[in-house]
Amino acid sequence: MHKESGAEKAPHWIILLWSVNETFKSFLFCILSVIQAIIIGPYLAILVLLFLIPLGIYSPCIREVGTLGPKPALIGHRGAPMLAPENTEMSFQKTIEHGGDGLETDVTISYDGIPFLMHDSNLQRTTNIREVFPSNSTQNAALFSWDALEQLNAGKWFLRDTPFSCMGSLSSADQKLAMNQSIYKLSNFLRLADRANKLVIFDLYRPPEKHPYRNTWINTTLEVIRDSGIKPHLVLWLHNTMRSFVQSVAPGFQHTMASKAPVDAKYARANITTNLYVISEPWLFSLAWCVGVHSVTTNAVHSLKNINRPLFLMVREKTSPALWDILASCSCMIWRQRPKEKEHYNHLILVGEACVFLQPLQEAGLTDPWISPYSSRPL
Ligand SMILES: *[C@@H]1O[C@H](CO)[C@@H](O)[C@H](O)[C@H]1NC(C)=O
Ligand SMILES: *[C@@H]1O[C@H](CO)[C@@H](O)[C@H](O)[C@H]1NC(C)=O
Ligand SMILES: *[C@@H]1O[C@H](CO)[C@@H](O)[C@H](O)[C@H]1NC(C)=O
Ligand SMILES: *[C@@H]1O[C@H](CO)[C@@H](O)[C@H](O)[C@H]1NC(C)=O
Repeated sequence: MHKESGAEKAPHWIILLWSVNETFKSFLFCILSVIQAIIIGPYLAILVLLFLIPLGIYSPCIREVGTLGPKPALIGHRGAPMLAPENTEMSFQKTIEHGGDGLETDVTISYDGIPFLMHDSNLQRTTNIREVFPSNSTQNAALFSWDALEQLNAGKWFLRDTPFSCMGSLSSADQKLAMNQSIYKLSNFLRLADRANKLVIFDLYRPPEKHPYRNTWINTTLEVIRDSGIKPHLVLWLHNTMRSFVQSVAPGFQHTMASKAPVDAKYARANITTNLYVISEPWLFSLAWCVGVHSVTTNAVHSLKNINRPLFLMVREKTSPALWDILASCSCMIWRQRPKEKEHYNHLILVGEACVFLQPLQEAGLTDPWISPYSSRPL
């Protein structure tokens, strides 16, 4: 019964629906055109923007043929801290084995005037000080005598704490070796580097108040360097105070400015090379290479050693600059900033700051906005 009455009424309903559908259709069409207009405008705008973005990107890895500098020297940050306990003989030997160009470390002077390698201000993180001298475990490292420092183990913590997440596992021979590491003297470190012909670079910590070597720390260190017999050109002198004094006493050192932030071209002009730290990722290393950094301090000599070319290097042929010229000129029109010193720009001068990537390497002044925020991690 119910079904039948429904069937009888059907034609009426269809007509009604049809007319509703027609009005609705035109209404819908109207709405759609409005929506279309609303969407297409921004869509086109975004599309245009996306096309233009690459023009505004400054990358030091877009370069002319033949203007890429040499690969930055690889300097092991406290040795090879992913393969061995930092700042120990084993750590530096691993760096040498993996073909690092240099060894980075931190120098503290003991209460009796022996420079040794220690990064932290106290010994808790990297030695077993809590077991050996429990009542002195928070004492400043520089306030211990060498006699006391010699009694500490500087490797067991590494196997216990595994400071890096992607370290891999150590062979049993390496574990045994790591377990047996002691605090390393600067003099032994320098002799090891000299034998292997590796650069050395180090932070030098001024001893605390009332320390007998507080005022002669630089001299004391320079004496140890001299007595070690290391070839002076292997020493990258980093410490910023008394540079001219150091230059007069030890004229053979290479003076280096370490930078977490953009480095100024004035250092290059004064023959001060640049070292960026800590660079362990391949892409960041690539940028450092493109920018013309002299050396990088890294936790991962063993992996950066295998990079033979910056990732995402784009080479611009000198002989076929047409496309580049057009791109650069377009970008000029958009970022219309006047170059400060015209003579520093090549034939694309018109373009202004947005085209800085077309400047020759040395004129780029190593001021790379990409490097600074990522490399500013504490040592
Ligand atoms: C530990 O501290 C005490 C008290 O300050 C001091 O007398 C002692 O020499 C310290 N020991 C070491 C190994 O420095
Ligand atoms: C390393 O091994 C030698 C020989 O077994 C031992 O005399 C020395 O105390 C060990 N050093 C450390 C820091 O464990
Ligand atoms: C450092 O050594 C130089 C000579 O090598 C000496 O003239 C100077 O007085 C010393 N400075 C200090 C603070 O001991
Ligand atoms: C920089 O070093 C080079 C080569 O060692 C030397 O020829 C040049 O005179 C030095 N420049 C300055 C400003 O010291």
